[in-house]
Amino acid sequence: MRTPFYSGFPGEAIIMASIELNRVKAMTIEPKPWAGRFTEATDTLVETFTASVAFDKRLAPYDIQGSIAHARMLHRVGILNEKELKSIVQGLEDVLLDIERDDFFWSIELEDVHMNIEARLTDRIGDAGKKLHTGRSRNDQVATDIRLFLRDGIDQLDLQIAALQKAILDLAEREADTIMPGFTHLQIAQPVTFGHHLLAWFEMLARDRARFSDCRKRVNVMPLGAAALAGTSFAIDRHYTAELLGFERPAENSLDAVSDRDFAIEFAAAASLTMVHLSRCAEELVLWTSPLFRFVDLPDAFCTGSSIMPQKKNPDVPELVRGKSGRVIGHLTSLLILMKGQPLAYNKDNQEDKEPLFDTLDTLKSCLRAFTDMLPHVKANRAVMYEAAKRGYATATDLADYLVRKDVPFRDAHEMVGQAVRLGIETQRDLSELSLAELQRLSPGITADVFAVLTLEGSVAARNHIGGTAPERVREALGQARRSLAGVSEP
Ligand code: ARG
Repeated sequence: MRTPFYSGFPGEAIIMASIELNRVKAMTIEPKPWAGRFTEATDTLVETFTASVAFDKRLAPYDIQGSIAHARMLHRVGILNEKELKSIVQGLEDVLLDIERDDFFWSIELEDVHMNIEARLTDRIGDAGKKLHTGRSRNDQVATDIRLFLRDGIDQLDLQIAALQKAILDLAEREADTIMPGFTHLQIAQPVTFGHHLLAWFEMLARDRARFSDCRKRVNVMPLGAAALAGTSFAIDRHYTAELLGFERPAENSLDAVSDRDFAIEFAAAASLTMVHLSRCAEELVLWTSPLFRFVDLPDAFCTGSSIMPQKKNPDVPELVRGKSGRVIGHLTSLLILMKGQPLAYNKDNQEDKEPLFDTLDTLKSCLRAFTDMLPHVKANRAVMYEAAKRGYATATDLADYLVRKDVPFRDAHEMVGQAVRLGIETQRDLSELSLAELQRLSPGITADVFAVLTLEGSVAARNHIGGTAPERVREALGQARRSLAGVSEP
């Protein structure tokens, strides 16, 4: 039995099975690359405890990419000859194929992805493989691998967030004129258009993309050459390696390069904020689908039923997205605490950065995917939304603004409208259903034109400035939003 490659998070059972397997095969494995100064074998429990291969094997493609670039650089500066380089590059490409075909034995004895791959390379190509690690350490190697992994992850996330933004825009376009209550304190505040509400979601995600793209700048710096901590005595060409790997530049300080994981923390912070945004959107969907709101319907395919209550249709997808925000925020906390006590330079603590990072990326990607797939099927119950806005005295501010235009000071206007609302509540009528005479009793300046501002349509249309809820402005904002997405391809 082999553990699958890219399994993400193999469960305990899988890890234990692979450890068992390794016990059996241990006899056939090469000695550890660092065995020279040791006289005793590693305690078996320590071996298992310190190994990271069960999860860091996921970094294999990045590790190989980094090794090929490192080898090319070693050749360029005359440390490897042409023949050695060719054989290393070919060997690493073959190892990658083996891994992808799941024809690779991951050994716990060889601790991590780096030593497993290097051992396999030497198995395949002989002595040239032993030269690959010249001028390099696993410390700069692993920091490079994580950066390559995160850079890739950020690029995938950018496409995925943009795809969700597009789905939001499509829905916002359909609902540009739909009137719903806007809330503060979850109390009905003022009427808004559903399209406008959805564009708020769009804006949150636009900032999330900007945050990831900013984080990418600091991720895209190359640790290789820092070696264990102090750099290397070989005359390496770090600019060349950086160029081959698409890094912006080599890291400035070798101690910092192998040690800090602030870029990973930033990634987790950006991911946490995105999850918080998704969670807020999810929370709204959960509320809106409740029979007490009934603002929207979710498709059956995105809901589940109850095993006991036959009437239930539960919004599991939004609920899970909301729930999963907790684990991503937890990963951010783990990474911050992982870093806080570490003296310079590399410490083994950093091995603990991988699982939270992998799970952060996987969780965020799956939530984005679920949301993007679900949104096109969200059905707005326009009549219900309209009725809710109407019943909630949502145009009270409009009446106050109307009085201000008739020269009533705002504070007085506020008081008068408060009385009008009370009358409405007592007689179970909306403000627009009060008679002109009743309104004039509160404020004699009121004339028949007041009813135009008391309608929901009038209220939203009046908020016709940049960032306002008027359907005309929503359409304008939609156009601008679409243009901002132009050129972003599908994930
Ligand atoms: N597996 C290690 C990690 O993830 C790789 C670096 C190990 N370096 C060392 N000096 N033990 O951090």
